[in-house]
Amino acid sequence: MVQFTLPKNSRIQKGKEYITDGCQKDDKETLCVSIYRYDPDGESNPRIDTFYLKKDNSVNMVLDILIKIKNEIDPTLTFRRSCREGVCGSCSMNIDGVNTLACTKHISDIGNAIKIYPLPHLPVIKDLVGDLSGFYKQFERVKPWLHTSHKNVDSEQIQSEEDRKKLDGLYECILCACCSTACPSYWWNSEKFLGPAALLQAYRWIIDSRDEATEERLKDLDDNFKLYRCHTIMNCTNSCPKGLNPAQAISKIKSMLAST
Ligand code: SF4
Ligand code: SF4
Ligand code: FES
Repeated sequence: MVQFTLPKNSRIQKGKEYITDGCQKDDKETLCVSIYRYDPDGESNPRIDTFYLKKDNSVNMVLDILIKIKNEIDPTLTFRRSCREGVCGSCSMNIDGVNTLACTKHISDIGNAIKIYPLPHLPVIKDLVGDLSGFYKQFERVKPWLHTSHKNVDSEQIQSEEDRKKLDGLYECILCACCSTACPSYWWNSEKFLGPAALLQAYRWIIDSRDEATEERLKDLDDNFKLYRCHTIMNCTNSCPKGLNPAQAISKIKSMLAST
């Protein structure tokens, strides 16, 4: 059925304000942290809560702030995190308008007013936690494992140094979803377009010298939606917190297909 009004959860309301002890709103030593809060199982619209905190040396990264707020002010604040090292990819969110990792985003790079939202265009499970099931589904579609007839499990499958180097800039992907959720083509076609993260992974296997399914993989990607919905807007590359270049990987797949 056609919907002529905005869905309820698109109207964000002003939320609660918390001023911690000894904080003055306009003090340059005060951080003003605005955080998106939403529980789709509840009755209320999403809201933005604002937390005023005194700067202190134990809080350097955005993730430190979230942990401090959860531990000391509001235990119901919900977010994902695990490694605190930029390795697991679980703390990805939109900070100051940019998709990035909360654990590697330094407060000094932002200023005193910090706005924190979940990754865009994902259904919200709660607060800063987006539903990544669709994202993982697209990853699964590129069959991200080695396809080989090599059966001898007792021996290594050797790769030359030169071939191994081709995987640099690809294997480091931590599947944080910052790139795919920054891509307008993925926003509008997230079920059909594989998105930059899955396509970077696809390319990682296509150029692995040990993989024997290159032709099959390329053939599978030769599709108007899966691959060619990428219009080289570059948002993906600009938002990758690991400094990877999914847009380049996608254009390399397109070149390979053009020369077959
Ligand atoms: S380059 Fe392609 S994949 Fe990357 S943001 Fe643009 S359209 Fe999306
Ligand atoms: S390419 Fe970068 S932004 Fe995209 S999922 Fe991998 S690490 Fe995250
Ligand atoms: S907590 Fe693992 S990447 Fe941020």
